[in-house]
Parts: sequence; C-alpha cells; structure tokens
Amino acid sequence: MSEKSGNQSPETAAGRPARLPGDPRPRPAVERMIRVDQAGEYGAARIYAGQLAVLSRTKSAPLIRHMAEQEQRHLDTFNEMLPARRVRPTALAPLWHAAGYALGAGTALLGEKAAMACTVAVEEVIDEHYAAQADSLGQDEAELKAVIEEFRAEEQEHRDIGYAEGAEQAPGYPVLTQVVKRASKLAIWLSERV
Ligand SMILES: [Fe+2]
Ligand SMILES: [Fe+2]
Repeated sequence: MSEKSGNQSPETAAGRPARLPGDPRPRPAVERMIRVDQAGEYGAARIYAGQLAVLSRTKSAPLIRHMAEQEQRHLDTFNEMLPARRVRPTALAPLWHAAGYALGAGTALLGEKAAMACTVAVEEVIDEHYAAQADSLGQDEAELKAVIEEFRAEEQEHRDIGYAEGAEQAPGYPVLTQVVKRASKLAIWLSERV
C-alpha cells in the first residue's frame, strides 16, 4: 500500500529555460498542460453525452445535463486556447470520442448510481490533476491558472453531485471506481504525450 507521492516532472530536471523572451509559444510543460486539459474536457463531455443517451428520461437527467453544459464550456475554453497559443491538440481525440462515450453509456446501463460512481471517480482524478497543475503555475501563467482553478471548482461540484446521488450505493462501487480511476489516469498520461 505504499504509493509513491509526488510525481516528478522531468522537464524541471532537464535544465531547459523556463520561457524565452518574446517566445509566443508556451513552455513545453504548459503546452502539455493545455493539450491534456483539452483532451480531458473533450472526454468529459463525451462521458456525459453517453450517460444522457441512456438516462435522458430518468430523474438524474437534469443533473447530468447541468454537468454536461459545464463540461461543454470547459471544452470550448480549451478549444479556443489551442490555436491561440499554438498548441498541437492530442492525436488521440478519436479514441477519447469513442472511449468517453462508451464509459458514460456503459456505466449508465448499469444504472443511475453506477453512472454517478463513474462521475465521482473521474472527477476525483480531475480534481487532483487540476490541483497539481494550478500549484505548478506561477504569475507568468496567471490567466491559465485562474481558468484551471475555476474549472476545478466545478469538477468538485460534479463529484459532490455524484456522492449526493448515491454513487457509493452502486453495485461493485469499489471495483468500479478503481477501474475508472485507472483508466482516467492512463488517459491523462497518454494525452500529455500523444
Ligand atoms: Fe470539466
Ligand atoms: Fe466535470
């Protein structure tokens, strides 16, 4: 049970200059951040679309719609940021298109509480992910940091909705959340690199 804490990011040890004067492109770490966040918000939007396809006539639908709308706003923001900051998008968008939707619809088919368990698992990973990003950003990236902190607060709201709607009563909750969390972390790892 000894999970190592503190993922070292290699670029801090590589001795690269943080930012060149007059360089319009963000430094590599920030570039990766914007790439993975756009990918993550894309995946999130697809998860909630998949949930809604299955649960559109249930009592959870208005809550899922509310979360989906917020994810769309997050995605729109990063969609605009990619070209504005000349960041290459992830090459894995087609994969997240399918996998996000499958995850959302698949868990929703197990029931409303399983869908909420999926939400809790994904949003807890994103909460940690955004917290680490915000911590690593300084004054030179104040605008990006503010965006991330704002979105993080909404991801926490989604997580809390999941708990309030009975996520923990989902059948196989511990296994389900572990699987979804591992998949989310793998998706983050891949989207930073590919
Ligand atoms: Fe989001
Ligand atoms: Fe979210």
